[in-house]
Amino acid sequence: MKNTAPYQEYVERLEALRDAQCEEASAADQLLSLRDATLAKPNGTFLELGTWRGQATKAMLNGLHGGDGLLVSVDIEDCSDAGGGENWQFVQSDSKDANAIVAAAPRLNEGIDLVYVDGMHTVAQVYAEIMAWFPKVRQGGQIVFDDVDPVPYMYGHRKDSARKEMVNRALRQLISEMFYSNLDSLRMELKMGSTGLAIWTKTSEFGSHLRPYTPMSPPRLDGQLSDLHDQLRGHSAYKNCDAIQSVMIPI
Ligand SMILES: C[S@@+](CC[C@H](N)C(=O)[O-])C[C@H]1O[C@@H](n2cnc3c(N)ncnc32)[C@H](O)[C@@H]1O
Repeated sequence: MKNTAPYQEYVERLEALRDAQCEEASAADQLLSLRDATLAKPNGTFLELGTWRGQATKAMLNGLHGGDGLLVSVDIEDCSDAGGGENWQFVQSDSKDANAIVAAAPRLNEGIDLVYVDGMHTVAQVYAEIMAWFPKVRQGGQIVFDDVDPVPYMYGHRKDSARKEMVNRALRQLISEMFYSNLDSLRMELKMGSTGLAIWTKTSEFGSHLRPYTPMSPPRLDGQLSDLHDQLRGHSAYKNCDAIQSVMIPI
């Protein structure tokens, strides 16, 4: 009989919270979605950028129990007591320094199933992390970004914080712009209501790189001009994928 999975009590408390009718359900749902990802691939390779006290570390290690999977958790500080066990390796490093991290954990070079990005929340750092780690993600693997929902931090909301609101909005914009600049390599989903998770699934081959992002045009704010523009322009069509023409109605 297998031993009980590590951090089982913690995960059960998260499950109870996710099912409760309260705001914290979204926070629990985020952590449990990371646990579910490791549970689905107990022999997989996972990378966490930003470890701190190991909330996500513990959730992910719970799912890896009993398999040969590996979670490599990285932090600029010493967080070596945030997790434990044979499925875990902590590396103290700047999270964008892929060479140093791979030298310490060479299995990452064979292909990563999921990268969880939750380190220094600046656009420059997250962009550098994306460019450094994307090629090492397997085709079908994921990059999951924390802190992309500004709404809970807006004025008068539960976690009212001007700094966090602006940081999360900037990260969400970066991740969206990168996505729209690389539609041939990515799919994207969002989880909202807590800090927010953006989930990219890599559709291009292992080893492939992303194009740098193209900033999006500013939002249109004038309703009358927009109506006129749409009348002149007519309908859109799919341009880049012949296979889709037969099944999708251009809208
Ligand atoms: C939001 S906390 C991580 C929370 C953690 N993922 C969890 O679920 O509990 C952010 C962490 O990023 C770390 N950090 C900040 N700058 C970093 C850098 N350049 N490289 C690696 N880690 C960094 C901080 O030391 C901090 O522990």
